[in-house]
Amino acid sequence: MTARIIDGKAIAADLRARVAEEVARVKRENGLTPGLAVVLVGNDPASEVYVRSKHTQTQAAGMASFEHKLPADVAQADLLTLIAKLNRDPAVHGILVQLPLPKHLHTETVINAIDPAKDVDGLHPANAGRLAGGFAALSPCTPLGCIILTKSVHSSLEGMNAIVIGRSNLVGRPLVQLLLNENATVTIAHSRSRDLPKLCAQADLVYAAVGKPEMVRGSWLKPGSTVIDVGINRIPTAEGKTKLVGDVAFQEALGVAGAITPVPGGVGQMTVACLLVNTLRAACAIHKLPAPGV
Ligand code: GUN
Repeated sequence: MTARIIDGKAIAADLRARVAEEVARVKRENGLTPGLAVVLVGNDPASEVYVRSKHTQTQAAGMASFEHKLPADVAQADLLTLIAKLNRDPAVHGILVQLPLPKHLHTETVINAIDPAKDVDGLHPANAGRLAGGFAALSPCTPLGCIILTKSVHSSLEGMNAIVIGRSNLVGRPLVQLLLNENATVTIAHSRSRDLPKLCAQADLVYAAVGKPEMVRGSWLKPGSTVIDVGINRIPTAEGKTKLVGDVAFQEALGVAGAITPVPGGVGQMTVACLLVNTLRAACAIHKLPAPGV
């Protein structure tokens, strides 16, 4: 048996097209152009690639994109002043501060300064708390993408056994809450968990978000399970080059899983598409318009 490959690229393209349609509609009917501001501190090459991709895709969806690049040694007070300005700017409906921040900046203080209504990363404690309480919230983009990919395989997740490996604020923790909202039964595993293979063996849905190349082995999986690989790890090859691999040993998993996301071309594609969804939702909520159809 060979697992079905979940085509994150195609699913993300479809989502972006639906966002663009809804953006065109709110522009036409309400004169509203949703706007996203992305703040990049310093010049980490990976972050620069992500930020460029966010800018291009935001514009392609018909939204306004505002990029703010600050030097790596920016004073925290200056960053907080910029965030306060974006909070007040009526053309900005979403604010994202690219992480990780340089060490001299206090990430928690910076995130807490973002207006929760514009917090399209879903990282502000007000949004994280609402999500944990089962209330309407802006939710982090990567976990939202994971749920959409899972639902491309299973229309309902009710009663399924899910395991989330990883407990970061950006992925693992919010993913657990979203899965609970879908009525899945959730196990949260992490670097200190005992006997991960045994925990995985019971799971219908496996989410690997640990940042350890190919850690989850094919032999750990329950036959027919759905595997969502959040990891993006660059590793050296025998030819002296590098390649991207996930947190799951893909070739091994192919022979056991029922469906699996590839790396690249899986979850990574969904994150920016979900950022566009969150920006559109935030813009509609701020303007007290009905929630958009995406
Ligand atoms: N760095 C890597 N992924 C993300 C993300 O989803 N949001 C932010 N703000 N920074 C990131």
